[in-house]
Amino acid sequence: MTRVFSGIKPTGHLTLGNYLGAMRPWAEVDQHRADSLFCVVDLHALTVDHDPARVRRLSRQAATLLLATGLDPQLCTVFVQSHVDEHARLSYLLECVASDGEMRRMIQYREKAARERERGGSVRLSLLTYPVLMAADILAYGTDEVPVGDDQTQHVELTRDLAVRFNQRYGHTFVVPKATHPPVAARVMNLQEPASKMGKSDDSGPGIVYLLDEPDVVRKKVMRAVTDSGREVVYDREGRPGVANLLEILAACTGGNPEILGGVYQSYGALKKDTADAVIEVLRPVRARHTELCADPVYVEGVLRDGAEKAREMARPVVDAAYRAIGLLPPVSEPTSEPVSAEAVSAEAVSVSDVVVKAAR
Ligand code: TRP
Repeated sequence: MTRVFSGIKPTGHLTLGNYLGAMRPWAEVDQHRADSLFCVVDLHALTVDHDPARVRRLSRQAATLLLATGLDPQLCTVFVQSHVDEHARLSYLLECVASDGEMRRMIQYREKAARERERGGSVRLSLLTYPVLMAADILAYGTDEVPVGDDQTQHVELTRDLAVRFNQRYGHTFVVPKATHPPVAARVMNLQEPASKMGKSDDSGPGIVYLLDEPDVVRKKVMRAVTDSGREVVYDREGRPGVANLLEILAACTGGNPEILGGVYQSYGALKKDTADAVIEVLRPVRARHTELCADPVYVEGVLRDGAEKAREMARPVVDAAYRAIGLLPPVSEPTSEPVSAEAVSAEAVSVSDVVVKAAR
């Protein structure tokens, strides 16, 4: 069965963009067709300035929301990254396969580092190595497919490169994964700045619909969305990004087609009203289920405990195999079957240096 892995970072409140572009397809499609793992990638939240209490709160909330969107622990594995040591364990090995230049070329790193420096802050080393940890997240599970937004494509490409390189150097160890993108609304844009993605980390409210926003707040945000000059409602991503974004959100919420919907409306006001209604309806059951789950923390904790255990069992053999392949001595709890003679050791020393000489050429 296809193995699917994806992750959500607890750096801000989850948004309509996260839901339509990722979480809903995970719940509606992926968990039914594949052996899937969905992970709250909390280690990744430490790559930028963070408040420990907030990360803890957002991690719990993200896990609860994953379940509220309909992920079923009977069908898939839901867990928290830091509960499974294999991620960090594998990340170090992959750091020994990646190059610093490769890391510095990552677009997201360059943008975030530039922003951080502009603010006069320092850039954490973990921000640079973040994509390697992401590669470890993916490769530890023998993942075939990684459903992500298109801003993550470069990171998944890097993951593929690292997997191929590791396999070539040290023998076949990792499945080489590929990124997949959900067909609709893979990219919901900010209602106030339709040129940029509706990201949770921006955390400046008016253009972002959060999954837990009250219905009247959702309505206000949608009604105040930036539209374009002109009055006709037409679907034109380039020329009319604001209206196109509303049409895409409406289409994603109602199962329609944005171009066809474009022909239906006579005014921006009517489009906004229907979009607000549709978003409120889509979020209603998620909010309701979230409230129920918050009242039952023991259940949520149980799901995360079992999820981490299942995840650990899947990842452990893959990461152990990588440790052996790269040349690390097995721990004494795995006794070697035969006594090692002094000659064998020196013969091995020769063959290892041979390999090094060959690799250096
Ligand atoms: N980098 C991803 C993001 O910012 C989150 C992430 C971390 C992830 N590890 C992952 C996504 C592994 C998919 C698979 O959205």
